[in-house]
Amino acid sequence: MSQIRVNSTLDFHSDAYRDSFSRINGIVIAGEQEAHDNFIRLAELLPEHCDLLTRLGKMELRHRKSFEACGRNLNVTPDLPFAEQFFTPLRQAFQTVAGHQQVGACLLIQALIVECFAIAAYHNYIPVADDFARKVTESIVADEHEHLSFGVTWLKANFAEVKAELETTNRQILPIVRQMLNQVEADAEKIGMSKQALLEDFLGRYGEVLSQIGFTTREVIWLSSQGLRKA
Ligand SMILES: [Fe+2]
Ligand SMILES: [Fe+2]
Repeated sequence: MSQIRVNSTLDFHSDAYRDSFSRINGIVIAGEQEAHDNFIRLAELLPEHCDLLTRLGKMELRHRKSFEACGRNLNVTPDLPFAEQFFTPLRQAFQTVAGHQQVGACLLIQALIVECFAIAAYHNYIPVADDFARKVTESIVADEHEHLSFGVTWLKANFAEVKAELETTNRQILPIVRQMLNQVEADAEKIGMSKQALLEDFLGRYGEVLSQIGFTTREVIWLSSQGLRKA
């Protein structure tokens, strides 16, 4: 397991740091945009929660703007073409289940997997971030918990009807998450983050919410092992 370097050893203004940060910053900016688009799609699929989901979507756009400011603060141009490609498999998977009106699967992807991943990533980034980005990221994490909580509440209330759909989607998405993590590993390490710590944090949070919505401990272990343990 690689060691997380302490904040003071990172040179935020070095070319090496800024080069890696251009891709990481691109990913968070594009990721917040994807999250916005997903919540707006969910607002169409769940008209009874339209106002709330639209509000959650707007929060994601504010996050996008905040992360754009983090890039500007370090004089970094986010690599958005890279980020666009990075999110393609996940976007296609979301669009497929949304096209089949599978609300449970949509919420598993956006409100559980993406939000748990974002919370784990931001949580691991905060100790190694520059002062400006640390403050921005701390306030964003609180919002992501609210998004996660919407997904947990809905999925728990509708667990019996969507259980099979969640198992299928989990099996499809976790290998995609693993691929995404592998792609970003080298850049994450350059800005002081450990892939292994991030993976463990994500799996811990994801397993916890799976059990909150109704999966047994045995099922959670099986679900979490689909594609990620081998990473
Ligand atoms: Fe967000
Ligand atoms: Fe979010």
